[in-house]
Amino acid sequence: MSAETPAKKELAAIKGTKDVLPGEVEIWQAAEAAIKRLVELYGYHELRAPVIEPTELFEKGTGETSDVVTKEMYTFTDKGGRSITLRPEYTPSMARAILEHRLDLRPEPMRYYFIGPMFRYDKPQKGRYRQFHQLDIEVFNEKDPAVDAEIIEMADALLQTLGVDGTETLVNSVGCRACRPAYSRDLRLHAEQVRDKLCSDCQRKIAVNPLRIFDCKVDGCRDQAARFPKITEYLCAECREHFGQVLSYLDLYKITYRVEPNLVRGLDYYTKTTFEIVSGKLGAQNALLGGGRYDDMMKDFGGPDICGNGFALGMERLISILNIEPDKKKILYIAHLGEPGKRKALELARHFRRNGVECLVEFGTKGFKAQFGRANKLGAAWVLIVGEDEIRKGLFQLKDMAAGTQTEGTAADLLKIIQDKKI
Ligand code: HAM
Repeated sequence: MSAETPAKKELAAIKGTKDVLPGEVEIWQAAEAAIKRLVELYGYHELRAPVIEPTELFEKGTGETSDVVTKEMYTFTDKGGRSITLRPEYTPSMARAILEHRLDLRPEPMRYYFIGPMFRYDKPQKGRYRQFHQLDIEVFNEKDPAVDAEIIEMADALLQTLGVDGTETLVNSVGCRACRPAYSRDLRLHAEQVRDKLCSDCQRKIAVNPLRIFDCKVDGCRDQAARFPKITEYLCAECREHFGQVLSYLDLYKITYRVEPNLVRGLDYYTKTTFEIVSGKLGAQNALLGGGRYDDMMKDFGGPDICGNGFALGMERLISILNIEPDKKKILYIAHLGEPGKRKALELARHFRRNGVECLVEFGTKGFKAQFGRANKLGAAWVLIVGEDEIRKGLFQLKDMAAGTQTEGTAADLLKIIQDKKI
């Protein structure tokens, strides 16, 4: 909030949150509409879950060793004594909703999407907010590696549709519960040897979950992590075969990717494929989207053996690099005079709006000149003049502001002109 803002400083928006104002919101709307159109082509349906969830959902789902759960959750106790968390991510909510409503018993494929706010208490910086928005995409019950590749292809198509270029696609496999323990053991041994070169948080991670050392942003830890053994060298036959096939389908789609063996992702649930699409235009927080396969979450929630797969895209990060020019709206400004003019303007606005024309009638603005001035300032496409003469004759003047021409006609005639010009 700037110094001149009349409201009290204590009333300013919470740090790490932001208002999306008219002018920018149209870009969000255009992006959201394009996203919805595209994901629906792939058979995804929207699934809306609550913002608040039981804290255990994320402890069990996102994982107790992830930074998100250990450091970043907005958790509070409600008046009933229950621990509640503002969702830091959407994947566990999707899994919960499926189990709760037995969507697995429905015949249609389990493909869902959602766009909405998430909450993480991290240090705010460019591209990192405390309330941010994700497009979340999830597919359930599809074991085939072709699905992993199709999800990446959809992310790629989405960015192309939105005109985002210059991105890089990173892929990896983090193995499964059969092959990862041996890797974690070796990683622990390596990390133990360089313990004093790691930050205190990473020293703690050695015992808890050494894979999480890869999430650390401290330069010294990153240098060490770069020399740790690679998970791809530890994959069991099944995971290796799966990863090979994912890559072959990506080749089929002609998607350029780089295998990045350190891409373990910051959440605990991943199995097999992980991926991220990064952009050099984003600055330090360069991940535009990230995701992967998670075959054990449903089982861990006590449900059936249903695997999952998906990604989430950061909407603020996307919007920050988008070059969308939202369609300019064509507004009809109805200028009126006196009480009879006002009454007619109300009637006409109702008629035009019902026929799909965006109308603006302003009250309390004096005189036609002042109203024309307003129409100009607001960039109205047309001005309709409703004065005494016009009301008496039942014929109104329509001024085309760009062409400077004026046409007389009945409300029906003028509606036709506007509708023809709108297309
Ligand atoms: P994530 O990598 O934690 O994954 O987040 C996905 C994306 O959300 C990031 O790539 C980034 O664009 C955006 N994002 C994350 N945190 C912030 C923040 N504090 N401020 C702004 N943007 C942020 C997930 O959330 C997983 N649920 C993805 C997934 C779905 N995996 C499987 N299915």
